[in-house]
Amino acid sequence: MQVGIDEIGFYTPNKYVDMVDLANARNEDPNKYLEGIGQSQMSVADQTQDAVSMGINATLGYLDHVDLNQVGLLILGTESGVDQSKSGSLFIKSALKLPAAVRTFEIKEACFGVTAGLMLARDYVRLHPHHSAIVIGSDIARYGLNSGGEVTQGAGSISLLIKAEPRILAINNGHSAYSADINDFWRPNNSATALVDGKYSKAVYLDFFERTFADYQRIKKWSPAQFEAIVYHLPFTKMGFKANNLAMAGQPAEVEHHLANNFTASAWFNRQVGNIYTASLYLSLLSLLEKADLAPGATIGLFSYGSGAMGEFYSGQLVSGYQQKLRPIADEQMLMRRQKLSIPQYETIFNEALKQPIDNVELASDEAAGYWYFAGTKNEVRQYHQK
Ligand code: HMG
Repeated sequence: MQVGIDEIGFYTPNKYVDMVDLANARNEDPNKYLEGIGQSQMSVADQTQDAVSMGINATLGYLDHVDLNQVGLLILGTESGVDQSKSGSLFIKSALKLPAAVRTFEIKEACFGVTAGLMLARDYVRLHPHHSAIVIGSDIARYGLNSGGEVTQGAGSISLLIKAEPRILAINNGHSAYSADINDFWRPNNSATALVDGKYSKAVYLDFFERTFADYQRIKKWSPAQFEAIVYHLPFTKMGFKANNLAMAGQPAEVEHHLANNFTASAWFNRQVGNIYTASLYLSLLSLLEKADLAPGATIGLFSYGSGAMGEFYSGQLVSGYQQKLRPIADEQMLMRRQKLSIPQYETIFNEALKQPIDNVELASDEAAGYWYFAGTKNEVRQYHQK
């Protein structure tokens, strides 16, 4: 029995900043952001979008196709949690009207959270083949105005349906994992923005990639030629570009050619959304599937990285007919519908979103009809409404 990804839902908030505007406002050469970092735009969440509302909205993209009574597991991977105790997944479960029998919780290891959830879900479905699992990654990357990391912010969510006999990507047996207790990026409890040792984090990311990729090839007795494409956790697209260069080094021209072209396709959405932490790898997978032309059966490698740090490499095979399970027009419209913010507008929204909401004051959202949003707290209880 094969187990893997049967549906992919995507949501990003309805506002963005253009990187040329940001570079001009910060007295940087725009080419540093566009080429050196590899980002063109970044999505911005106002105070009415959080990890919960974005996770609901991403799942709504495919919920009509799901037999809700078969969903046995719901996992939220996030590092933008809305409560220190209660799992954000309970708000999501309630909004999606999932059965009470669902097992649900939140999981955290920086950007690795969704991969951890996906591996648990795969093992769960192997034992319960008639059940499915929903695994959501949902995050807002905030480093702070005028900070070195500002250009690598973003906001959004990816939701995955994990099932037996999946119709998009069957996950192959075997993986390579590597962990170490290091301090490249973290967010203490008293801080709404992340702390980061930027240059060190880039070096560690590449080190973890080299280790897990080499180990995976050893375990599977494969070479880079086995992969039609490799997708990466993309905190910014240049980071994955560098890792992909390591994967291609010394390979025949035709291997280099398809790995390089497919990397460009896999970075398309991320270049415009920015870092969405847990969901970034899976946004890159969606981008690859919708922007590249891959044959069924193609092997895709996936490199997951979460600061702190945890790395894992695994792979999957594209399932015949996978294109029919994608929604390329809707996903493109998700980007196109966003309103461009001026830098002063972005700065105001950024500062507002850092504040605690005033209890018993309802928040209004400018999202389109049908989307969910955070409507403030009532007697300190978070409220989620649908427009
Ligand atoms: P910085 O110091 O402003 O930039 O911060 P830089 O000086 O490193 O320059 C960036 C690149 O632009 C360089 O290229 C420059 O040469 C180039 P590289 O050497 O890397 O190839 N450049 C130019 N290119 C064209 N025209 C120009 C020009 N000027 C310079 N005129 C940094 C960059 C990424 C460090 C910063 O934004 C940051 O700290 N970001 C946050 C940390 C991060 O994203 N780390 C990535 C690895 S860790 C990770 O992925 C985990 C994470 O997602 C969290 C989680 O797991 O939860 C972050």
